[in-house]
Amino acid sequence: MLEAFSGPKRTSWGDRLSRPMRIVVGVSGSIAAYKTPMIIRLLRAAGHEVKVVATQAALQFIGAPTLAAVSGYPVSTGVFDDPAAIEHVAVGEWADLVLIAPASADLLARIAAGRADDLLTATVLTTSAPVVVAPAMHTQMWLNPATVENVDTLRRRGLVVITPDSGPLTSSDHGVGRLPEPDRIVHEALATVTGQEETAARLADLPLKGRRVVVSAGGTREPIDPVRYIGNRSSGRQGVALAVAAHRLGADVTLVSANIGAEVLALLPAAVEIVPVGTSRELEDAVRSATAKADVVVMAAAVADFRPVKQADSKIKKHRLGGSDSPGGMRIELIENPDILAGLIARPPRTDGTRTFVVGFAAETGDENGDVLAHGTAKARRKGADLLAVNAVGKQLGFGDVPNALVILDSQGEEVAKASGTKDEVADALMELVAERLAAR
Ligand code: CTP
Repeated sequence: MLEAFSGPKRTSWGDRLSRPMRIVVGVSGSIAAYKTPMIIRLLRAAGHEVKVVATQAALQFIGAPTLAAVSGYPVSTGVFDDPAAIEHVAVGEWADLVLIAPASADLLARIAAGRADDLLTATVLTTSAPVVVAPAMHTQMWLNPATVENVDTLRRRGLVVITPDSGPLTSSDHGVGRLPEPDRIVHEALATVTGQEETAARLADLPLKGRRVVVSAGGTREPIDPVRYIGNRSSGRQGVALAVAAHRLGADVTLVSANIGAEVLALLPAAVEIVPVGTSRELEDAVRSATAKADVVVMAAAVADFRPVKQADSKIKKHRLGGSDSPGGMRIELIENPDILAGLIARPPRTDGTRTFVVGFAAETGDENGDVLAHGTAKARRKGADLLAVNAVGKQLGFGDVPNALVILDSQGEEVAKASGTKDEVADALMELVAERLAAR
């Protein structure tokens, strides 16, 4: 029976980089279990602490005294050896790494099924440490669709399954299914931990880590009656690209989505929260409420500047308004919508003393009063956002899935940067600039 695991719980990734690991070596019923003591020796020689959890079947192939001697700890097999010690939880929590070598076809199936009928499977279920599995079995078992599916399932769930070697198996058999040599198993298992630690360290370093970013995107629709609306041609693609870019830089992202198609929303990672809205006023409420906790808000939505004063409760009939029966035509009286961006600056929703960094967008065509940049500069000064991304829009520019070019201005209308390329590329450039400015405040 294994003694109750004690000592501090698993530490953070940063701590683990520089210290010897605590490794649970799992053993299951396979003739290759004779190699496990060599694996344990190599791990201990590298300075790691090892505790062995064996299945009952494993002990048909290798003796518990051998495993206990090479690991320096007693060997355990059952969940209920000492219920008071709740070993299945304790072992999983103790481990920095779980390495199962050899893993039989039966063990792979039990792990894939989420079974917890012995200490080894229960440990796999309870641990949050990386789990590396080195299968060993006959070729037919390895190639059987049941095993193939089980291995796929484990890999999908993030377990590392080391592909077996080809070579001599038991008796006169030959083929794939052989347990790799102990040094390769040890190398792959330790490399898994190093790789995951590097990824975790990289994630911890991301420039928007711990920041909350709100992006509004798409185009608002202002109902005229239950079937008609005043809208615009915004696809939401640029705003979605910005949400993806902010997520990639480590932010917690909320996308306030005004009428964006499912095929565009499908580009978002699952971690991005989506708040769907229809009208400008709904967008304003959603943006203000999300911005109350945000470090950054990016207003990429095309907001309708006006809405019908009245919205008909039932479908407006042509013969009552215009068309051939009513030569007078139809009139819709419009009223101005609130300027949401201006409101975010004049009346910040965040009231805990942290100032939210505000980014606006200006889609301009240029006209007889000035070119795209002249309008953009005037708008930057008028709106007062920390950054205003100005882009030229027209028949072939800006809308849908086409390349984009932005000039980014500060609140004084001074040019800060230019970005061009696909919508994803300009989104990356803009969010990186936002991260830089945020860090410099
Ligand atoms: N915007 C807003 N609320 C509105 C209109 C626009 O918050 N009612 C935001 C947009 O999301 C964008 C920025 O303001 O970030 C500029 O939008 P744009 O339509 O270019 O500016 P307008 O202020 O509407 O100016 P104009 O229509 O005169 O160009």
